[in-house]
Formats: sequence, structure tokens, C-alpha cells
Amino acid sequence: MTAGRLFVVGIGPGELALLTDQARAALRQAEVVLGYRAYLEQVAELLGRQRLEPFELGEEVARAERAVQLAAEGATVALVSSGDAGVFGMASPVWEAVERRLASGRPVPATEVVPGVTAALAAAALLGAPLGADWAAISLSDLLTPWEVIARRVELAAAADFVLALYNPTSSRRRWQIERARGLILGHRRPETPVGVVRRAFRPDQELLVTNLAGLPDTSIDMTTVLIVGAASTRLVAGRLVTPRGYRPPPAAGPERSVDSPGSP
Ligand SMILES: C[S@@+](CC[C@H](N)C(=O)[O-])C[C@H]1O[C@@H](n2cnc3c(N)ncnc32)[C@H](O)[C@@H]1O
Repeated sequence: MTAGRLFVVGIGPGELALLTDQARAALRQAEVVLGYRAYLEQVAELLGRQRLEPFELGEEVARAERAVQLAAEGATVALVSSGDAGVFGMASPVWEAVERRLASGRPVPATEVVPGVTAALAAAALLGAPLGADWAAISLSDLLTPWEVIARRVELAAAADFVLALYNPTSSRRRWQIERARGLILGHRRPETPVGVVRRAFRPDQELLVTNLAGLPDTSIDMTTVLIVGAASTRLVAGRLVTPRGYRPPPAAGPERSVDSPGSP
């Protein structure tokens, strides 16, 4: 162990109000803050004297290696990740970089993951209460996972009636995965199953759409969108998606009667 410290900080979906106090404290303490360029911009107003090291998309392993190396050399380092760093984020590449250093006998820094609000939770809050029962988060990106594996997970989760939070639904290079996933889900769910499509949740240009599996092809979906597909029990309440937890409702309230009316006990 070295004197340095590494915080892997989940910065939430966008709005600074959704950053935890712990995340803010980690950013304040840091001497160096690293991260994807756009995420550093997202937290820019919380940063002052820290040295910034911006990275481009696709440089996740280099980013993790650099953060661990700087902290191992004695610096206090924050590596920012959108949403929660442990959900399709930077926390696992960091721990794998730590693992490589340990395997080669090099010193490793004290490393701490600071939780954040992941996209599924941010979207769910905007949509109502779609995650009220068991749910599964699945990334549709086949960059690091073969499509056959993803398709099997989508199919089995749909068959098991999980609510589905679909991350990475498309990118500039791939658009077909979401349509294939929709086909697999339709093998187990009604076309009327509610779907929430949330783009850029808690960012200034946020977009929210409630549709259903049949209407999904007509919606615009990009790489900053997360989708929540309802389970069999998910229904619309006042235009919001609600997956009941299964409580029994209270008996229906009848018309009020005065205490001395003929029917009173
Ligand atoms: C590589 S994953 C990172 C997830 C992130 N670690 C989290 O916990 O939210 C990127 C995907 O997260 C989803 N995402 C991240 N931020 C979002 C936001 N503000 N609104 C909607 N979806 C978002 C999108 O599905 C996007 O393709």
C-alpha cells in the first residue's frame, strides 16, 4: 500500500444536485481529477485547484491504469465515472488495474468507490415507479460482450418476467441491437407492455417518453438513452409506469354516513 489514495467517483446522471456529499468531498480532496472529457465538464464548477487529465471515449483501460499509477506514486486522485462507477463504469477497470499491479509486485494505493445515482434509477424516478419489483440491468453494447451472450440474457430475463433496464441501446456505429432485443422480449411480453424511454436524464436537454413495445420502433433512441421495459404487472397510472410491489389495496371507501343514520352499527 502507498500513501496515495484513489477515489472512483460516481457523478450521477447529470445534474449536480444528484451528486452525493461523499462524491463532492472526494473531488474536493483530490489533487488530480481524471475522466472522460464530457464528465469533467459536467463537474467543472466543483473543481478549482485540481489538475485535470481529460480522456476520450474508448480509453477506459488507459484511464484506469493512469489513475492507479498516479495514486500509487502518492497523489490523491479522483477518477470520475457517470452515474454509478460500479454499473458499466470505471470501478471494475480500476480494480483490474490494481490486480495487475499486485500480480507484478508493484505497490497499490488505497482505493475507494464512491457510489452515484445510476441511469436506471434516475430514469425510474422520472418515469414513476417501474422498478418496484425485481429488475435486471442489461447493456446492449457488444463492444466487450458477444451479441449471443447479450441476446441470451435479454431472452432469459424477459422469460423470467424481470423489468428490464436496457443500457447502451445504440451507438453511432450500431443501431440494430435494440430492434433485436425488442423482438426477443416480444416472445415473452404483450405488445402493449409499457416502455419508458429516457434520454439524457437530469441534463438540461432531458427527454422522456412513455410508449409500449409495439410503439418502440417509432421512438428516437441514442447512446445517451436508457430504456425501461415493464414486466407483466407493470401498468400506467396517470401516465407513469408503475410496477406494483404486491401489497393488497385498502377496502374501497364508500360514501360517508353520519353516525346516527339508520344503517350505522
Ligand atoms: C457506459 S454506460 C454508463 C452507465 C453509468 N455508469 C451509470 O451508472 O449510469 C452508458 C449508458 O448509460 C446510460 N446513461 C448514462 N447516463 C444517462 C442519462 N443521464 N440518461 C439516460 N441514460 C443514461 C445510457 O444507456 C448510456 O448508453
